[in-house]
Amino acid sequence: MLNRKNFLKTILGAGMASSLNLSSRTNVNHDILDEIAKYSRSTSGSMYGYQDEAIDKVRVGIIGLGNRGSTLLQMFRYNVEQGDCEIVALADKVENKVNKAAEELSSFQKNKARSYAGSEDAWKKMVHQDDIDLVLITTPWSWHTPMSIYAMEHGKHVACEVPIAYTLSDCWDLAETAERTKRHCIMIENCCYNDEELFVLNMIEKGIFGDLTHTEGAYIHDLRAHMLSETYYEDQWRIQHHASRDGNFYTTHGLGPISTYLHLGRGDELDYLTSMSSRELNLSQTANSKGSPYTDIKCGDMNTTMMKTKKGKTIMLQFDVHTASPYSRINKVVGTKAVHQGYPSKLYIDDGELLYWGHKWLDEDKYNEYRTEYRHPMIKKLKTISEGFKQGHGGMDFVMIYRLIKCLNLGLPLDFNVYDGISWSAVTPLSELSVASSSLPVPIPDFAKGKGSVATPLEIMREV
Ligand SMILES: NC(=O)c1ccc[n+]([C@@H]2O[C@H](COP(=O)([O-])OP(=O)(O)OC[C@H]3O[C@@H](n4cnc5c(N)ncnc54)[C@H](O)[C@@H]3O)[C@@H](O)[C@H]2O)c1
Repeated sequence: MLNRKNFLKTILGAGMASSLNLSSRTNVNHDILDEIAKYSRSTSGSMYGYQDEAIDKVRVGIIGLGNRGSTLLQMFRYNVEQGDCEIVALADKVENKVNKAAEELSSFQKNKARSYAGSEDAWKKMVHQDDIDLVLITTPWSWHTPMSIYAMEHGKHVACEVPIAYTLSDCWDLAETAERTKRHCIMIENCCYNDEELFVLNMIEKGIFGDLTHTEGAYIHDLRAHMLSETYYEDQWRIQHHASRDGNFYTTHGLGPISTYLHLGRGDELDYLTSMSSRELNLSQTANSKGSPYTDIKCGDMNTTMMKTKKGKTIMLQFDVHTASPYSRINKVVGTKAVHQGYPSKLYIDDGELLYWGHKWLDEDKYNEYRTEYRHPMIKKLKTISEGFKQGHGGMDFVMIYRLIKCLNLGLPLDFNVYDGISWSAVTPLSELSVASSSLPVPIPDFAKGKGSVATPLEIMREV
């Protein structure tokens, strides 16, 4: 892959290769390699399987109480009522948001949380306090890495919303800091805890799919109303990324669950990617028609990124938040014995009979038999527990917070480690690099220095 000129000559023939203006393309690829090498650091992978002391009652501080922070706050109610955790501090630069969150908290927790508000740096005072074990970060993307690093430097475990980083240098900084401070740093990817994704994972683990070859995931969600609203996101932070960058900015809802299916970081690893964006029309046209000033948009309406793993499996990841396409994370998995595709969930089982025509998804009854038999044990257990509690995104947010707190209570490795979060997030800057270089392949750094190539059981399959 590194010698592109010879590679292209081999597959296209010399004449064709020269018509592609290879000299400039070869330079671009060397630039890419130089660019990636520039940020590389000497991490060790030491946070694999990391266990810290058990914490009977996890003391939580939350930074960012906008849409997401206020939803996640409600997810803690069960664990608070069980005495497994306490929300001790709330921070947001906007005082009113902290006040609203404090009111919500008072509906299920007797002790009041301390408030930190009124400036962009008020959260730092919260992080300085000694009585906090875990800092939960639900702020705009640009704050995720600095807040995570600051919290780890001050002795706190970190749970951060997606994506935890969007530059390569931030990804390396996070790995280095977690390794040096020995703090958990989990990117909380809720889609890994969704009923459908866990059902698919459980079938894969039980051998129903045979050997996997290909997967597809996505974040296809019409966010135009949210991004163009002057009030939905604080300071309209989200659309500013679309105005200035082009690539896949929201990789992790698709790639998180796929990583569990493919055992990425648990026996296989991402190798390289190539990425392509369509032209942009939809967000800018809508902005124009609604009188929004955001009429100059750089990000294409649809980004498609293809990845290959070291063991030869492929991943297709899409990103479209500009168009009216109905919501989808695709959730397609192809194996030697079965295929699944989501939206809505359907299953094909290869019974070994070779047909010329007539391949069909399982009928409803048969599908339901599989759905019942292979429901993930975690979902079976938590469905009963969670009755009467707010669920968040159909239940996955509740399950995610329950698992996070329980693992900390028991002193277990968390379901995902720092390398998972940064390798899923790193796909964003790498996709931008590929898009900007006529979709040239870009190697994906190995942040854990080979530790992820060792086959180990998935933490998310443990009973907790
Ligand atoms: N996993 C999911 O399903 C999901 C869903 C929605 C959002 N998110 C993620 O959650 C994050 C927040 O999104 P949102 O929709 O809640 O945005 P939002 O704008 O509603 O909330 C962000 C909050 O952070 C606060 N903030 C900004 N800078 C701050 C600072 N320096 N100090 C303290 N507070 C600060 C803002 O005042 C605001 O209240 C994003 O990373 C987003 O990607 C994830």
